[in-house]
Amino acid sequence: MSGDSLKNDLTKVLNEATELVQKTGNLSDLEKLRVKFLGKKSLLIQLMKSLSNLKGDEKISAGKELNNAKKIINDLLIDKKLSLTDSKNNLKDDFDLSMPGKPSSIGSIHPITKIMNQAIDIMESLKFECVEGPEIEDDFHNFTALNIPDSHPARAMHDTFYLENNFLLRTHTSSVQVRVMDQKDPPIRIIAPGKVYRKDSDITHTPMFHQIEGLYIDKEVSFSNLKSIINIFLKTFFEEDDLKIRFRPSYFPFTEPSAEVDIEYIDNNGNKGWLEVLGCGMVHPNVLDIANIDSKIYSGYAFGLGVERLAMLKLGITDLRLFYENDLRFLRQFQRTEI
Ligand code: DAH
Repeated sequence: MSGDSLKNDLTKVLNEATELVQKTGNLSDLEKLRVKFLGKKSLLIQLMKSLSNLKGDEKISAGKELNNAKKIINDLLIDKKLSLTDSKNNLKDDFDLSMPGKPSSIGSIHPITKIMNQAIDIMESLKFECVEGPEIEDDFHNFTALNIPDSHPARAMHDTFYLENNFLLRTHTSSVQVRVMDQKDPPIRIIAPGKVYRKDSDITHTPMFHQIEGLYIDKEVSFSNLKSIINIFLKTFFEEDDLKIRFRPSYFPFTEPSAEVDIEYIDNNGNKGWLEVLGCGMVHPNVLDIANIDSKIYSGYAFGLGVERLAMLKLGITDLRLFYENDLRFLRQFQRTEI
């Protein structure tokens, strides 16, 4: 095998292969061509076998020529195969260009999530840092550290879902206060949004609902600071400068004094009423002391917002359960609106 005659042979083979592959109109003929040009008995493969008779540079350059030719033929065969299979599919006679396409539906953000994000945005603009805590809690973080000892009647009020080994589903986001106070030194200025769980189900209660906890601890934090932040938040959230807000004395074991906050609303018949939207108060000194924060130096306020309450008021919804029935007719109403 001399260099020149090899080149001639290869040029012939390549020309023949190109011509025949081009002419082929079906896959079985194409397979025959593959055997003819690249099969064991093909000229190309025979030549490759006889390479061992050559030496040195001659062997190297002949090897390159042969490999190159093999690659060209292989590519020709692949390209042809693709074009044959493609045109085969496209020619299916049941393909109807005039058929309408299948509609694809786009998901959207749940109204409760939208409301929650809005509330978070407002609080973040007031320089509260957003943090998260676990939904599976222990007795200590959900109750004991919040000044609710074992036999305290407030435990009964919470209708807790208990799990094994002293774990439970958190009944309020106040448990996150305890976790943050464990990890950080004052000043602390956080909100903690999330799901909470209670064994309760009727028109105004679902076993899972959402709260946003707020906590601010520093030197000389006062009840008027608390009132002002709540006023700013509610007026911004409801976009109403003259919103009527009422602080009503209340009791929570973890705050002293404590209050519940109501806002005035007008129902569909034009009747006015007050509706509770959050609980709040000055952090109880016992809670600070349990968290190793010196209650003689530091004071703080805390609040817990009911997200579903805010949503019902803002969206004019009277049955809370609608939020969780996953009825698309209900959910679609909020799909495109900026609520
Ligand atoms: N954790 C209370 C509840 O779920 C709400 C609450 C009241 C949170 C007063 C607070 C607070 O932080 O200070 O009913």
